[in-house]
Amino acid sequence: MNRFGVVPVHPWNPETESIERAAEILRSGGLVAFPTETVYGLGANGLSPDAALKIYAAKGRPQDNPLILHFAACRDIEPLAHISRRARVLMKKFWPGPLTLVLPSKGVVPREVTAGLDTLAVRMPSHPVALALIDRAGFPIAAPSANSSGRPSPTDAQAVANDLGDRVDLILDAGPTAVGVESTVLDLTGPEIILLRPGGCPIEEIEATTGEKILLSGGDDHRSPGTRYRHYAPSVPLLLDREEGVRPRAMAIGGRVAWMGMMGPEKIFPDGEVHESLSIVFSSAENYARGLFHAIRTLETRQADVIVAQWPPSPEGLGRAVRDRLERASSRE
Ligand code: TXA
Ligand code: MG
Repeated sequence: MNRFGVVPVHPWNPETESIERAAEILRSGGLVAFPTETVYGLGANGLSPDAALKIYAAKGRPQDNPLILHFAACRDIEPLAHISRRARVLMKKFWPGPLTLVLPSKGVVPREVTAGLDTLAVRMPSHPVALALIDRAGFPIAAPSANSSGRPSPTDAQAVANDLGDRVDLILDAGPTAVGVESTVLDLTGPEIILLRPGGCPIEEIEATTGEKILLSGGDDHRSPGTRYRHYAPSVPLLLDREEGVRPRAMAIGGRVAWMGMMGPEKIFPDGEVHESLSIVFSSAENYARGLFHAIRTLETRQADVIVAQWPPSPEGLGRAVRDRLERASSRE
């Protein structure tokens, strides 16, 4: 363990002592960063107002942005939220996995977690370390992504340590996460299913399961508080290759131009303007999703002055989530 309290843990067979140590910190109201299949989460006791408040303080997160509660068993949700038949179908098909469901709350979960809303976001992650930790803790774990507010989500323990340092009591390190982007968030509180955030669970698969068309929310602030804030902001400008005049704009920023995408930089930068060490190429939309946040952090470390990112050619599968994160990372408000 180093000075940030990073504890290595086996991803498939997490060591009982490490899980117990982390669970004990949660029971005493502390913060534990832990791996999920999507990104690392910053966990606290989801039924304790004081513990939940520590999450907002550690991240610098606005308090009107509610947290997701993580469960290891569906029966534990029943006292806290109303579960419709449609919700049960989705849980059965996609849990454990990268899907978060917003349900009508029963008013039991503290307002520090729900940000005062009458709804509750619930998810069952599939990562064995996350499941073991929730089970051992004995209560649902409230966890946003374990980055400082506004930064790219962390997909490994190093990124958590870089962002949060000693503001977290312990980091469970099980290596890089498999999905790389956060869970898909669906609002199930109304007559129609509304997509609040595209993520690791493709909406085509959800539609095929329910037989219902999902409404794409147009950034409705009221319904999806998280969409109000700037997200995933790299410390250097990020431009999209689909934008008009991207090459001259990147060259005008000058210095070290970096590239990431599903093909090489040559189409946009035919004259070798992008040095090899600043070019990150992914073989599929799935791999783009896996590597997106890590690539942004890597290119920052390699002192890129501007990052140009390829817009995924198709919104299908993980392409929709990658597009969403790129759009937010590149927005300049
Ligand atoms: O994959 C994930 O979902 C990760 C891992 C750690 O589980 N967690 C995550 O949490 O991404 P966070 O806090 O970074 O994003 C949660 C999103 C935010 O956009 C938040 O506004 C929304 O879910 N949310 C939470 N509760 C909600 C509610 N009751 N109604 C609407 N949106 C809600
Ligand atoms: Mg987040």
